[in-house]
Amino acid sequence: MDKHGTNQELLIHSAAQLLTLSGGVQPGRQLGQLGLLKDGAVLIREGLIAEVGQSADLLERHSFSARLDASGCVVMPGFIDAHTHLVWAGDRAAEFEMRREGKTYLEILAAGGGILSTVRATRQAEFADLLDQTRQRAVSIFAHGTTTAEAKTGYGLELSAELKQMQVLLRLDEEGPLEIVPTFLGAHAVPTEFENNPGAYAQMVSSEMLPALRAWWEQQAATRPLPFVDVFCDRGAFNLEQSRQILSSARELGFPLKIHADEFDNLGGARLAWELGAVSVDHLVKTSPGEIALLGQPTASGYVAAVSLPCTPFGLAEGQYTPAQQILEAGGLLALASDLNPGTAWCGNLQFTITLACRTMGMTVAQAVAAATINAAAALGVENRLGSLQPGKQADLLILNIPDYRHLGYRFGENLVKTVIKRGAVYSIPQAGEIRHANP
Ligand code: NIG
Ligand code: FE
Repeated sequence: MDKHGTNQELLIHSAAQLLTLSGGVQPGRQLGQLGLLKDGAVLIREGLIAEVGQSADLLERHSFSARLDASGCVVMPGFIDAHTHLVWAGDRAAEFEMRREGKTYLEILAAGGGILSTVRATRQAEFADLLDQTRQRAVSIFAHGTTTAEAKTGYGLELSAELKQMQVLLRLDEEGPLEIVPTFLGAHAVPTEFENNPGAYAQMVSSEMLPALRAWWEQQAATRPLPFVDVFCDRGAFNLEQSRQILSSARELGFPLKIHADEFDNLGGARLAWELGAVSVDHLVKTSPGEIALLGQPTASGYVAAVSLPCTPFGLAEGQYTPAQQILEAGGLLALASDLNPGTAWCGNLQFTITLACRTMGMTVAQAVAAATINAAAALGVENRLGSLQPGKQADLLILNIPDYRHLGYRFGENLVKTVIKRGAVYSIPQAGEIRHANP
């Protein structure tokens, strides 16, 4: 990946299709408005979008700016991945093979594997090694078009190891180019030390870890907004009461909230998220009709975004996906994310996520694109700054090597991203077909 100079002023012009996504967040059946301009252009100044319009007009008025010709290409906002577990050590390839031989994900977790096996590897990893392993994934997802990713801790399950993960995320965000929105997921699983007393662990997260995180944040990251706090509310993890306890404490401390709910079982996590005014509820496979109806009703703090993660059932070889059409029918704010993690879905490619959404949840490509950009921004509370191409927003955009946006859902298994622009800086992505003979 080559980075070209950070141009003070840059004009991207002649896009076959420019997707502006400029109409704001898209709840319910409004989903799928791309704001498409043919022969479109975007003027970038000092890392922000200055103007969007027709190429002929912008070329004439800005004849002295540096230019990037996007002829034959689609230009669109960078993808926003609203749910990843980016930071971990090691892999679980052996467990994947065990699942092929018939063991289930939850059986492996109950036997001390699964998330707990990644916890062992992550606790052991030195900071530099964890940083290195995580950076490789950050670069890879950036090269596939993700310009901003939410990223969770959750493989430490003790304060020091959770903070080590958080430190890796803050460091990578500083390094760039991927922008990282951090989430504390100390309640991702019950650690082995507490296997006979999960309630005591939930209590410890609420009354010790969260206040310590808050104090640490004031020392280490005072200029940044507080991270999200998330809980895995599901069979084999935390029950509804434990989840309520943790999220309520987090809310009292001022943290914004997220929740993992209804991946394997319906425990009422979506209703809880709505009652607490969470920013998003994620997974939503086993969600009840009553809860789906709630997601269509904004709370005092706006919609609780419904984040669907189709790579997860696909990665688990399960046939049931988020009831996306019912969520849209109810008026919910649907977003798509990858769930990149070492257990259920080692895939941070949102192009592939879109492909799956189109095939498994009856979404159109236009809906899936909006769900992975502007609505995904809303699932992180950053829709005023990211997720669409509008004057004043951050200049995070993609040039795709396709003449029509519908190639996104239609084609899969190759990277369609040609250029990624992050805060106005241009990164070119090696293209399929550009191979060089390497002499040993
Ligand atoms: O979102 N559900 C909980 N967490 C991840 C899986 C994490 C893992 O298996 O390591 C998920 O699917
Ligand atoms: Fe997850």
